[in-house]
Amino acid sequence: MNYPVWEVPIFGTVWVIGAIAIIHVLISHFAVGGGFFLALAEAKALKEGRRDWFPKLQAYSKFFLILTGVFGATTGVGIWFAIGLASPEGTSTLIHNFVFGWAIEWVVFMVELTIAAAYYYTWNRLPDKTHLRLGYAYGIASFLTLVIINGILTFMLTPGAVWLQTVGSGREAEVFFNAFFNPTYWPSLGLRTLVCISLAGIYSLVVFSRLDGETEGKVKREMIRWSARWLLPAFLLMPIFFLWYLYEVPAAQRDLMHLGISTIGPGAFTQVTRMALISIMTSATIVGVVYCLAYQSPRDFKFGHALSVLLLALVATGSTESVREMLRKPYVINGWMYSNGVRKTEVETFNREGYLTHSPWKPIEGASHLEIGQRMFYGQCMACHTLDGYRPIKGLLAGRDEKAIGNILDMLHKNQDDSPYKKFMPPLVGTDEEIAALREYLSKLVAQPDASK
Ligand code: HEC
Repeated sequence: MNYPVWEVPIFGTVWVIGAIAIIHVLISHFAVGGGFFLALAEAKALKEGRRDWFPKLQAYSKFFLILTGVFGATTGVGIWFAIGLASPEGTSTLIHNFVFGWAIEWVVFMVELTIAAAYYYTWNRLPDKTHLRLGYAYGIASFLTLVIINGILTFMLTPGAVWLQTVGSGREAEVFFNAFFNPTYWPSLGLRTLVCISLAGIYSLVVFSRLDGETEGKVKREMIRWSARWLLPAFLLMPIFFLWYLYEVPAAQRDLMHLGISTIGPGAFTQVTRMALISIMTSATIVGVVYCLAYQSPRDFKFGHALSVLLLALVATGSTESVREMLRKPYVINGWMYSNGVRKTEVETFNREGYLTHSPWKPIEGASHLEIGQRMFYGQCMACHTLDGYRPIKGLLAGRDEKAIGNILDMLHKNQDDSPYKKFMPPLVGTDEEIAALREYLSKLVAQPDASK
């Protein structure tokens, strides 16, 4: 525990990051796909001499600029604030390995935002071809932001053998590209690109559904149908990239899904499998709804319909991202650092010399057992649990006495291969006294549900 712990009552830090991240994913992927949508729509309008598309596209680009430039950008920075606070040790590892990647990301991002603004403000002011080129330039810049961040995101699940052999030696910078182009890099880039394209279609349905089917029937019909087609690549290719992705995920993580699938009979799905099913079902529903409602009768396609498709996309995005996060449990960086910031290599030292001993937050001399226990809990458990909200420790332990709690802690501490907890919880580290203090603290919590301190 090198950093202070950020306590978020009820929701837990997990949900602070989750809520910001889901919104960010929904907007940032659109920022990539929507850029190409605008440029390609403009090219089509120019080629077919459809100047009547221009005002619609201009209005679209305003919506696009505000949504991505304001909400996309602020949620992106929001993720940084949130992960820096919630998972300082993990964030620090990412920064130390990828600082150069991030520097480039920021530069590309500034370029992207600048072009987006220029594109919107120069409709009808620049020669057609120049304006169109701006559109393509935007698309390329925004795609580059995905190319970069994808390396860092996939690294956390599959850092790759070379990096894992190098980490801790101080020579991590030499294996930058091994870590960046890690095993899940390409399938994930494919998947995310497909998501970008589909989201471009979905947001465009939202924008164009507001056209009046009576007075602007022709344009509405064309635009809705064209937007609907943007869902096709994902529909055809998503399963292929998804299987490729799963193939690259380490066996231990894949087992987590198999476990869920093989227990479908008794109804005991794992959370991962449940989320994966939600994600697949909502995605299929989106395609069905878009085909039946938008493609078949584009003039009658209403704003409400489009919003429900967007809502489904939100659910699909949320569940997919949470599957990705859950697959990584109990690690923040797979095979190297647990979600609570403890490195795999530190476990034995902490068990021998004490977890708090090595922390600047160690309780002062003569501190009570409860105080020691509380710090153990805050440091090692609060990354995933709250006291009485999300994954509430009081609820999970309710009805257990000190002996039963001691047994659970013992299992967590030994972390043997047959422990049911090993798949999703890190080993509990510390000396016997520290663990006993945690046991006392937890027993007191459960015995007096109101006493949280
Ligand atoms: C990497 C995240 C993570 C960390 C860190 C973590 N847990 Fe958990 N824990 C989980 C998950 C996931 C579950 C399953 C929750 C559920 O079933 O809703 C769980 C379940 C539990 C349960 C219920 C087990 C049962 O048999 O019903 C207990 C008790 C528990 N955790 C205690 C702890 C303690 C004590 C710590 C700190 C030493 C800790 N956890 C750290 C993720 C974590």
